[in-house]
Amino acid sequence: MYLSDEEKRILDGAQGAGKQKAMELLYALGLTFDAEKLIPVKRAHVALSGQEGDTYWCELLLNGGATCVVPPTTNPYWDTAYLTKFFDVTKEELDLAERTGDVYRRIGAKLTYHCAPGLGTNVPFFGEHVAFSESSATPYVNGALGARSNRESSVSALAAAVIGKTPYYGYHLDEYRLGDFLIDVDADVKDCYDWGILGYCVGKIAGSRNPVLRFKKAVLPTAEDFLYFGAEAATSGAVAMYHMVGITPEAPTIQAAFGGKQVPSAEYVITDKELKAEENSLTPATGKINLVMLGCPHYTYNQLLEVEKLFAGRHVSHDTAFWILAAADAVELAERSYLRQRLELLGVRMVGNTCIDEPCWKSFEGALGVTDSPKCAYYRERRGQPFAIRRLSVCVEAAIKGRLD
Ligand code: F3S
Repeated sequence: MYLSDEEKRILDGAQGAGKQKAMELLYALGLTFDAEKLIPVKRAHVALSGQEGDTYWCELLLNGGATCVVPPTTNPYWDTAYLTKFFDVTKEELDLAERTGDVYRRIGAKLTYHCAPGLGTNVPFFGEHVAFSESSATPYVNGALGARSNRESSVSALAAAVIGKTPYYGYHLDEYRLGDFLIDVDADVKDCYDWGILGYCVGKIAGSRNPVLRFKKAVLPTAEDFLYFGAEAATSGAVAMYHMVGITPEAPTIQAAFGGKQVPSAEYVITDKELKAEENSLTPATGKINLVMLGCPHYTYNQLLEVEKLFAGRHVSHDTAFWILAAADAVELAERSYLRQRLELLGVRMVGNTCIDEPCWKSFEGALGVTDSPKCAYYRERRGQPFAIRRLSVCVEAAIKGRLD
């Protein structure tokens, strides 16, 4: 792997131990994946999670004198000031959250605490090389925007932000962005939830291959639809790049999606029947619930409006909590337009800057929750709360009744 003289000097420690560590990591990654060289990036997104390992790595670089030459945006952790009004956490949990915020602030990250940077806080151009972590963000920037990022970890994305470079391999190269196989979709895919279930189906089939989707019925995905599709394809599989023929920027035609090579016949056909079967396999739980949790990935302002519409003035059951995790700017807008206050009167609370996978939610564990996101269910179940997955309208009805039929 080629390194310039300056890159070699950084690797030898001439610019401090922090930069040296970051360069060691990028160099090792490059060697592992046969990268020809490092390439410059002007954007990075770091999936800090407040977990010990991510915080340790950031402290290691900072204590070695490194700061970010490319200020990365950051994933959420949790809003300690707001959520401790509602939930008990231990001193250790609180200390870790505050230590995490503090060290990322000092290394020069932009503390956006938002898991959909491509929707507003950090939007790359078509063809731009970037280093993004967060499993839902990479398929969005690659597939929907046509920017170029590997599936970075929080560790490698921070190293890229410190050095301003990333190894040139994988999804940065034309050949690795092409479609690997074709899926025909002959189903009604209408809202975000449908796109999420479709993504979950596609992820299981694709693994880490690049799927090309050809739709038999007209679809018009929104930004939120792309986001939920990619989030779920990266949960059931490891999809970081996809094409939708006639829709996504690198697939104006099916031939373009396969790089001009022979277009293969469809390996799979996904119909309403397959989507329903997938949904049924994900969503069998019913019964009394203690929580509805939405916003994995973070809800946008339009999705908050949709929640209000579905409640139609009705209230959340007295023994059920209803939490929406949203982009901080969507929460701010909701506050300014009194949407937040109106929803609170119905028993719906929203919080910015916060992930579903944090210790502040532990008081709900042991009883059934409901969400519209398979990704949310996957992560919460690992922490001890079973979750049913339903479309948004059903989540709202369940909240009103306090149970899921
Ligand atoms: Fe966002 Fe956390 Fe879900 S980072 S996508 S709310 S797991």
